Amino acid sequence: MTPEHASKLAADICALAPVVPVLVVKDASKAADLARALIAGGLPALEVTLRTDAALDVIREMAKVEGGVVGAGTLLTEADVIAAKEAGATFGVSPGATDRLLDACEAHDLPLLPGAASATEAMRLLERGYTTQKFFPAEAAGGAPLLKGLSSPLPQIKFCPTGGVSLANAPTYLALPNTVCVGGSWVAPSDLVDAGDWDAIEALAREAAALSR
Ligand code: 3PG
Repeated sequence: MTPEHASKLAADICALAPVVPVLVVKDASKAADLARALIAGGLPALEVTLRTDAALDVIREMAKVEGGVVGAGTLLTEADVIAAKEAGATFGVSPGATDRLLDACEAHDLPLLPGAASATEAMRLLERGYTTQKFFPAEAAGGAPLLKGLSSPLPQIKFCPTGGVSLANAPTYLALPNTVCVGGSWVAPSDLVDAGDWDAIEALAREAAALSR
């Protein structure tokens, strides 16, 4: 898959809703219900982080839920790319980008949302053909003012800011011309996931899905 094609698919996924939930799920038996709650609330694109032992099983379970588009977060290696794809992920996300990771995603046909936190990082990805990027860690790197600053010289790059994004600051990002959606974990807090409070998670998703952009 070319970087241009990957970025087109990533842009389509980012266009599905204003927020992509970033999910840390320890128990795969909760995955399907969690995915159903988020999708019912209006958030179909889901990023499952590979930072729990259950993550690949979580992707497997969520990929079976109708109406969802399931991706794997923090891909670092070719092995991650292969495992994520085998589990059913249809996109990948990374906090930064390396040539080896980009090579692997392109070779295995997994569209990647690669991370950048500066003009140079964004330009390197653009040079390779990636016009849809994750801005990470959004708040720590400079937040909406930094992203706004990139929009004038680099209008062709669209971003999904992630990291420290909340219901309160999401509107500031979503109002920027170079923000297509935001990513965040606030819609699936671990206490609600652990308690299986799917109604509360659906309500958080609904609130996030109603954000305008
Ligand atoms: C992460 O690192 O887990 C993601 O970037 C989400 O960050 P958040 O928990 O600040 O939303």
